[in-house]
Amino acid sequence: LASTEVNIAELEEGQEITVIYRERPHFVRRRTAAEVEAARGVNIASLPDRDARNFNLGDGAPATDENRSAMTAAVAEGVEIEDALRASLLVTSANCTHLGCVPTEGAGDYGAWFCPCHGSHYDTSGRIRRGPAPENLSVPVMTFTSASVLRLG
Ligand code: FES
Repeated sequence: LASTEVNIAELEEGQEITVIYRERPHFVRRRTAAEVEAARGVNIASLPDRDARNFNLGDGAPATDENRSAMTAAVAEGVEIEDALRASLLVTSANCTHLGCVPTEGAGDYGAWFCPCHGSHYDTSGRIRRGPAPENLSVPVMTFTSASVLRLG
């Protein structure tokens, strides 16, 4: 399948699911307000990878949390989505940017994702913070096709 539809209405705050998009696992997480706040509070200059790595944006967009979240997803005509919901949703590749293992949810020094293969720590925005992984977890192209459906691809 070229695209994958995710029913976001079923996601509770703090809940995460893994979906398959283009034959690869992707995390879809509805973050808590505290997780978003922690992600927004990070100084971009301190990040190992300062690029948003978001296919909804051009190369070189800074890795702010706004630029990583579903705030960057397109919204189909006539669809209304609350900003707070868009900001809370984070969709990323579930393959560590080091050698492709699937990081563990809710683990590591940043309480987000930890890759057990060689010890990469990602924050609540899916940005690499420590360890051998060279890049942030990438964000796929996304569109809200209704108030409850987010399409990847
Ligand atoms: Fe994740 Fe090596 S594959 S740290």
